[in-house]
Amino acid sequence: VSIVFRGDVERGRVWQQYFRTHAPDLPFVLWPHVGPPEEVTYLVTWQPPENIAALFPRLQVLFSSGAGVDQFDFACIPSDVQVVRMIEPGIINGMIEYATLAALMHHRNFIDYDVLRRRREWSPIRVVPAQERHIGVMGIGVLGRAVLERLHSFGFALRAWNRSSRQVDGVTCFAGNDELEPFLAGCDILICLLPLTEATRGILCRKTFFALKRGAALINVGRGGHLVEQDLLDALAEGQLSAAILDVTAVEPLPSDHPFWDHPRIVLTPHIASMTQPHTAAQAVLANVRRHQTGEQLLGAIDRERGY
Ligand code: GLV
Repeated sequence: VSIVFRGDVERGRVWQQYFRTHAPDLPFVLWPHVGPPEEVTYLVTWQPPENIAALFPRLQVLFSSGAGVDQFDFACIPSDVQVVRMIEPGIINGMIEYATLAALMHHRNFIDYDVLRRRREWSPIRVVPAQERHIGVMGIGVLGRAVLERLHSFGFALRAWNRSSRQVDGVTCFAGNDELEPFLAGCDILICLLPLTEATRGILCRKTFFALKRGAALINVGRGGHLVEQDLLDALAEGQLSAAILDVTAVEPLPSDHPFWDHPRIVLTPHIASMTQPHTAAQAVLANVRRHQTGEQLLGAIDRERGY
């Protein structure tokens, strides 16, 4: 039994050190030095090699090194290989920080002030009390819950939407397609934390934007594929949306001639909202490997039918 890490070698060394110390029984090897292929039971990677089935005939679990699995081509992954997404404190804390920062930027009109500053206008905007600010989170998964919990501490009026019904303390929850519009109708700030699946691709579209309160603001920390980019530009031009903070785009890196770069009402970051932290991730994956070895359910196991 061995574990292969395929990714950045420097980060891989942190993982390797963790495993050497805490799991000396489990050889942890860094791609491309995989050792005997028939011993490879576990693979950690953002993107598996194309011929994964032939390369690792005894592979049992594929761990995504990131929170999502939408980058995987499931057709190339043998059906008896379990696929697991990354759930670890480093990603969760990073997302809490980013989403809170972005929500507060919208709440306290930082993008409006940036526009005013360029015009040399000293012009205070009324501060809306947090309890009158309605923030909606799409996706009540591990990350959505963590973000809601932190936003709750500011006293915001919170709502959340999920494909299937979920409850969160202090949050008005909506579920399924039928409740999407009622959810959106009450949002001043919309945060997308959905997984990217065929059902959620393009969900941040004109129809969604025009179902929000007029002048609402968007935060996309999901995937670029959630957003119909032209619809965002139109909604901003028409004043239906006031601003957007985007950590992800359809094409990454964003092409240099893309209109998002210069847009005064878009704040852009290069897919850094939350990143897997090698030390805590190694700890989380080792715990999952131990679960696997004792026949327990793995945390973050993917349902291939659902796609997340
Ligand atoms: C980043 O987007 C991740 O999936 O971890």
